[in-house]
Amino acid sequence: MNTAVGKGSSARRGEAPKGEKLADWADGRLGLYALAKANMRKVFPDHWSFMLGEICLYSFLILILTGVYLTLFFEPSGVEVVYNGSYTPLNGVIMTRAYESTLDISFDVRGGLLIRQIHHWAALVFVAGMLIHMMRVFFTGAFRKPRELNWAFGWTLLFLGIITGLTGYSLPDDLLSGTGLRFADGAILSVPVVGTYLSMFLFGGEFPGHDIISRLFPIHVLLLPGIMLGLVVAHLILVFYHKHTQYPGPGRDQKSVVGMPFLPVYMAKAGGFFFLTFGVLAVLGGIASINPVWAFGPYRADLVTTGAQPDWYLGFSEGLIRVMPGWEINAWGHTLALGVFIPFSLFPLIMAAIGVYPFIEAWITGDKREHHILDRPRNVPVRTGLGVAWLSLYAVLLIGGGNDIVATHLHLSINAITWFVRIGFFVVPVLAFVVTKRICLGLQRGDRDKVLHGRETGTIKRLPHGEYVEIHERLPQDALFTLTQHEQAPPYEIGPLVDANGVRRRVGPGQRLRARLARSMFGPDTRIPKPTLEEYREITSGDHHH
Ligand code: HEM
Repeated sequence: MNTAVGKGSSARRGEAPKGEKLADWADGRLGLYALAKANMRKVFPDHWSFMLGEICLYSFLILILTGVYLTLFFEPSGVEVVYNGSYTPLNGVIMTRAYESTLDISFDVRGGLLIRQIHHWAALVFVAGMLIHMMRVFFTGAFRKPRELNWAFGWTLLFLGIITGLTGYSLPDDLLSGTGLRFADGAILSVPVVGTYLSMFLFGGEFPGHDIISRLFPIHVLLLPGIMLGLVVAHLILVFYHKHTQYPGPGRDQKSVVGMPFLPVYMAKAGGFFFLTFGVLAVLGGIASINPVWAFGPYRADLVTTGAQPDWYLGFSEGLIRVMPGWEINAWGHTLALGVFIPFSLFPLIMAAIGVYPFIEAWITGDKREHHILDRPRNVPVRTGLGVAWLSLYAVLLIGGGNDIVATHLHLSINAITWFVRIGFFVVPVLAFVVTKRICLGLQRGDRDKVLHGRETGTIKRLPHGEYVEIHERLPQDALFTLTQHEQAPPYEIGPLVDANGVRRRVGPGQRLRARLARSMFGPDTRIPKPTLEEYREITSGDHHH
């Protein structure tokens, strides 16, 4: 109503309305109109799993907002002081200024503890969101051309997210974070030849030194978040540019997208979802205590807390080191601490294994086409099996990383847990792979049955001659499409080794390996042939099916 009056009055004076003037002003300087016109009505497909990337985005924003507040009060200083503050049990205790300022944030700064806790919870959710989002992308094959580069950006974000978390929870200089740094120092020292040098370089002398907090601080608040912010922006630009993938269904193909426009529907949903994420993190920060540093006390190199655990995302690397036998080689006056160095090297390798997977799959399939329709995980059983195997390895190692906690809480022997993890490290991923692949094949068989024989209705009918049969109901056309739209292209093959003129073709070991891998990933053992039109027509033409 008001707008109409406003419009009318500007129009009476022969002027453009205020809003339009502002828009013209901005457009003249920023060229926003053409940009917005092209993008604001962009269609976004809808599926709950696309929300996972949003959770990463919102928790990242919340990390930045809360982190800025903490930076105003935290002092990254290794200078020693005697505490004399609000938390009386620690009065008179010697500590670093870093630890003291963390206590001040927790007890004296307005809202400080809440913001600290939201910040820490947001970090846990951020990395969890990235891992789950990555696995959604993995299981649905969303990383295929043209999104390989965006996968690489995402993977780098996950890796940097983990390292940023590590540098963050090391800052308060409490007994737990110092124990974590001692762990990291031990791992660095195990690097052959340059380990001692690297440790001295990082800590500015013998561990723990006085420099590490002031060095970790700019890395945590500036360097890593800066790189990550750039990567997040690039990641989102690529999502926009490539357009979103979509799950298979009627009306959806490699060229057409079914969904809602970016503005207003998606924007409204996204805005609401940001506040939901913020709300959940605020409730967690408000009621669930996290990292109560005052209870651990300041770091002292001669003490260690029991039950010391890293944040969950580094639990697997802790597990690797805890279960590794303490192998050592002593030669020519030097010690090679294999018991630490091997697990330390495995940590990036396990991360890299999933990071390079899309590139390996692209090489094996040799598929150069673009893919905008997602795979149903069951239709690519080997990939799905590998993903589950990777996750199961992570989970087994997480148990290893918390072997003391598991032992005390479940009244088990710590040695039994360690041995379980040692054996499980090799056995569980294989089992997980085999079981997942079988489940996928079972589901494929189920799909085939549903297409040919329809859905079981649960209605039992008795025939005149006494036989009982269950009534099956034909699937609607859209369901038939969804269950049969996937490709079952033959895997890559080397082809005949001798050409038409009888001349032998040279085939390199790379090609042979590729053909072997293609057969095991996409060969007959990995797929139940989907029903052909003839089969469908034959079986549905008469009334002989039920
Ligand atoms: C800061 C961390 C991250 C943020 C903020 C983020 C954000 C997003 C958003 C909002 C989307 C669109 C919605 C969706 O598909 O969920 C997306 C898509 C995508 N993300 Fe991420 N992501 C992050 C980390 C990762 C990681 C760790 C990976 C994988 C290693 C990854 C790979 C991808 C790919 C390939 C797509 C395109 C998927 C498609 O179109 O179906 N992202 N990301």
